[in-house]
Amino acid sequence: MQLDFRRPSPALAPAFEKFLNAFLPGDHDMWPADSIFGLARTDMPKYLEFLDGASKGRGLPERWVTSDTYWVFAGDEMAGEIHVRHYVRGMLWRTGGHIGYSVQPKFRRRGVATAMLRYACQRLRELGEADALLTCWDDNAASAGVIEKCGGVRIADAVHPGRNMRRYLIPLI
Ligand SMILES: CC(C)(COP(=O)(O)OP(=O)(O)OC[C@H]1O[C@@H](n2cnc3c(N)ncnc32)[C@H](O)[C@@H]1OP(=O)(O)O)[C@@H](O)C(=O)NCCC(=O)NCCS
Repeated sequence: MQLDFRRPSPALAPAFEKFLNAFLPGDHDMWPADSIFGLARTDMPKYLEFLDGASKGRGLPERWVTSDTYWVFAGDEMAGEIHVRHYVRGMLWRTGGHIGYSVQPKFRRRGVATAMLRYACQRLRELGEADALLTCWDDNAASAGVIEKCGGVRIADAVHPGRNMRRYLIPLI
């Protein structure tokens, strides 16, 4: 599938809204109401402003790091969203890592997340990172599969109350 990596913009917001509305109730929620990402559902102009600032290291919540977002298109439909944090520090070592991604249900199992993760790894390589840290809940088989397909090597889990978070490193050099 031909994928086109674009930076978020007001012109692409209608495609993003369709993408967001297609997610399933059982999916790991990447835009939870208790996070700044929840703005995606409540205030699109502010979400866009946040993403733009985040890519410049501005207006970030405390302890967050500079991060680039790509809206990934298959033709004129948005298939995926991916966030690439320029580095990890603090809590990101336990939850979040360098990268967060999601793929619209109808585009799943067609290699979209794998292609997005490979693209993100290339970005991190260009930024000088030696490894990409990826995290996913232990029961997120889909995400673990993507990470393993991209060469992720499992390291110690981060233990959270009642639940473990898997952690993987993908060597970049
Ligand atoms: C996780 C997610 C991004 C995967 O996207 P995708 O485009 O379907 O992934 P890919 O097609 O690249 O899959 C790569 C491999 O992962 C594994 N995989 C993907 N989906 C799977 C599933 N539902 N169950 C088991 N393994 C799965 C498979 O090994 C697959 O390779 P294969 O299709 O050759 O067997 C998608 O399911 C999603 O958006 N989920 C909700 C949000 C989320 O969980 N994000 C990650 C948070 S850590």
